[in-house]
Amino acid sequence: MLKIEIVKALQDNYIFVLTCSETGKVGVMDPSQAFEVEEKLNGRRVDVVLNTHQHDDHCYGIKELVEKHHCQVYCPKKDILDQIGACKYVDDKTLLNGLVHKDTVNIGETKLEVIEVPGHTQNHIAYYSEEEKILFSGDTLFAAGCGNIFDGDVEDLYKSLNKLKFLAKETRVFCSHEYSLRNLEFALKEFPQLETLKARYENAKLLLENNMPMVPLRLSEELYTNPFLLAPNLEIFRALREKKDNF
Ligand SMILES: [Fe+2]
Repeated sequence: MLKIEIVKALQDNYIFVLTCSETGKVGVMDPSQAFEVEEKLNGRRVDVVLNTHQHDDHCYGIKELVEKHHCQVYCPKKDILDQIGACKYVDDKTLLNGLVHKDTVNIGETKLEVIEVPGHTQNHIAYYSEEEKILFSGDTLFAAGCGNIFDGDVEDLYKSLNKLKFLAKETRVFCSHEYSLRNLEFALKEFPQLETLKARYENAKLLLENNMPMVPLRLSEELYTNPFLLAPNLEIFRALREKKDNF
């Protein structure tokens, strides 16, 4: 069973420190900074670093963590082939491990399975534990929103989110940014009649004002309040994504 500690970093990034409660092994997901992670670790060692995609705000901390802990680093295999992302921060390439769809990574006794979710970036991956019903979605799925398109493709993003929709409804989602309020404002503009959205917005405001994290999200809640998961087809999805880009 993983104990998941939430670390806030940079302007709105979430980093996750994952500790196997049986073995004490430690993984760190998308370390945008090392300092904040070390503070949370309080002397514990890191065994693996996991990365969802190439963007620097998900990688900056990797170099320092690797130098200090000599830990293994897992990232999308395609990012290694393209020589982008996490691999830029790892000098000793023997520590680098590329992942493709359905590969697995263990943190102690917890097995995380890779789901390829292109869209925000072409090579983006997410990590899922079916047993523990947890998903690390990186910049693919956010509270009431989804990632924007960088070097990915809108059709890919639509398909990727559709994959995530079919995970277990009880799944808790750990996304890599805190974008809830802005996303909920957009969602309310699109679905002003949806009472559950208003309640969610008020709840998010309260949590964030009190410096509480919005993660984990509940996939079940996303399924009926996230406009991008509610989009019934690609054309509506594409239009929504464009409107949100200009919101
Ligand atoms: Fe990103």
